[in-house]
Amino acid sequence: MEVRVSLNTNRCSADRRDAIVAAPVFGETFTDHMVTMSYVDGEWGALGLEPFGDLALSPAALALHYGQSIFEALKAYALDDGGVALFRPSTNARRMNTSASRIAMPALPDGAFELACAMLAEADRDWIPTADGAALYVRPFMFASEPHLSVRPANEYRFVVIACPVASYFGPELRAITVGVESDDVRATPGGTGAVKFAGNYAAGFAAHGRAGAAGYDQVLWLDAGEHRWVEELNAMNVMFVWRRDGRVVLSTPPLGGTILEGVTRDTLLRLASDAEGLSINEVIERPTSIDEIVTGCADGTLLEMFACGTAAVIAPIGTLVLAGQPLTIGDGNPGPVTMAMRARLLDLQYGRSPDPHGWLSRTAELLVRHGVVLG
Ligand SMILES: Cc1ncc(COP(=O)(O)O)c(C=O)c1O
Repeated sequence: MEVRVSLNTNRCSADRRDAIVAAPVFGETFTDHMVTMSYVDGEWGALGLEPFGDLALSPAALALHYGQSIFEALKAYALDDGGVALFRPSTNARRMNTSASRIAMPALPDGAFELACAMLAEADRDWIPTADGAALYVRPFMFASEPHLSVRPANEYRFVVIACPVASYFGPELRAITVGVESDDVRATPGGTGAVKFAGNYAAGFAAHGRAGAAGYDQVLWLDAGEHRWVEELNAMNVMFVWRRDGRVVLSTPPLGGTILEGVTRDTLLRLASDAEGLSINEVIERPTSIDEIVTGCADGTLLEMFACGTAAVIAPIGTLVLAGQPLTIGDGNPGPVTMAMRARLLDLQYGRSPDPHGWLSRTAELLVRHGVVLG
């Protein structure tokens, strides 16, 4: 893979950067560099590290008209030994190609996704916050750049990676969030695009999200399109439940089935909960959960905890679910012990503070060496 490096000679001052990194606002300030790669004439060109800046784009670029646009999200962590690691970048790379295929876009060349993220995190390693819960949020995305108005897949695409320092998603204090169950709109339909990170999925959820925000809720819980009864996920997080069943503690999450995004955090937690001792979880299952079951579980006390999980928010405890305007308190309404233990396990793993038996941390410096890339 051809790599080009053009370092930014007009970087943010160290004082300003350090102030931003000390108190980052999600998605607001970007690092000094970005990585780009163009697809033209059926081939991907060189992977280029370059100064962060505006993209030149024709107003006829197909993504602006027919929506061919997908993205990914992962984090780079500053490890205690001074190294930098990405968490499970190959899983995101695979998901990016799955999204690309669903929206009739070309796949990325093998290894390009991981290398692009590693180049950016290494070049901008001074932007990586070290506070607990903070990290560098890496945003790879791809869109149709060909200037044309025919209703068809584009022949030209741009793959870009940008990054920004982030702290905890819902503020410095971990609190239980309030989630409104959406009663009208649906996020995904069978056979649709809900299982991939297609940009349009998110736009389709904004109106409901706006209504939920106006009512004072933090997030929307989406139900299935057919019966409006089965729990799917939040706007950018999967959802998990902790139940007491016959004296046993059961962790459950809705099964994937074409309408739910296969979250990397979801998969990680399912595996951590199955592997790990000391989490007080007796059983881990993927099974459909209905709203009726949640109502009953709250009434008879068998639903102990509920939380959302995803790269940006890590784990967000859910304290209240609002159903047709009626609040339902989950457990005692506060972050529960299983939720907090899972969160601590996950963060320890991501920050390299606990053993990594699955090899989920990918050191960026090693990725660069493997590809013979020197940033200069
Ligand atoms: C719709 C949706 N569900 C779930 C998730 C969580 O996925 P991950 O854990 O890979 O961040 C995301 C975020 O990417 C998302 O956009």
